[in-house]
Amino acid sequence: MKGTTVLFGSPRKSGNSESLAEAFLRGAGKKAGEIHRFHLAELKLSGCLDCRQCWTGGKPCVLNDSMQEIYAALKQSELILFVSPLYWYTWSAQIKPVMDRFLPFVAENADFSLKGKKSALFSTAGDTDPNCFDGLRFAYRASCRLLGLDSLHELLAPGIYLRGDIEGTEWLERAEQYGKNL
Ligand SMILES: Cc1cc2nc3c(=O)[nH]c(=O)nc-3n(C[C@H](O)[C@H](O)[C@H](O)COP(=O)(O)O)c2cc1C
Repeated sequence: MKGTTVLFGSPRKSGNSESLAEAFLRGAGKKAGEIHRFHLAELKLSGCLDCRQCWTGGKPCVLNDSMQEIYAALKQSELILFVSPLYWYTWSAQIKPVMDRFLPFVAENADFSLKGKKSALFSTAGDTDPNCFDGLRFAYRASCRLLGLDSLHELLAPGIYLRGDIEGTEWLERAEQYGKNL
C-alpha cells in the first residue's frame, strides 16, 4: 500500500469512531503504508465556495487552508479512511467541508483524482437501530461512485453513545480483522 489518509471527523479526541479506525490501522500494520492522520476539528477548513476556479494556478482549490495538506496526502495515498460519528443521521460538521472540497476531483480538467483509490467508512452512533446509518451510508456510497473510489468496508456501530462505549466490543475486533485482511 502506497499510503493511507485518515480523516477523523469527531471533535472528541480518542473517541469511539477514532478507536474503530485505529483498530483497523493496528490490524493493517505496515500494509497501510505511510499514514497521514487528520483530526479535522483542529484544522482550518472552509466549505466549498462554488467559485468554479478548481485547478486554476495548478492547485485543486484556490482556498489556502488546511485542505491543501489534505490534498497532498490524498495524492500520495492509495487508501482513504472516512471516520465520523453519526451526527443528525449523517456526517459530522467537521468532515463535511472535506467532502465538499472534493469537488475538484470531479472537474473535467482535474490534474489528479481519487479514481481507483480504495476507501472505508467508520462510524458510531448512540441509536441502537442499525438503520440509523441509512443516510450516511447512502451519502458515502453515492460519493464513492461519483469519485471512482473502490469501497472496501463500512464499519457502522450502533448503540455506542458515551466516550469509551466502543471499548471491549466485537466492533474493535472486527475492525482489526478487516485491517489484517487488507
Ligand atoms: C451533535 C451530535 C449529534 C448526534 N446525532 C446522532 C444521531 O443522529 N444519531 C445517533 O444515533 N447518535 C447521534 N449522536 C451520538 C454520537 O453519534 C455518538 O455518541 C458517537 O458514538 C460519538 O462518536 P465519537 O466518540 O467518535 O465522537 C450525536 C452526537 C452529537 C454530539
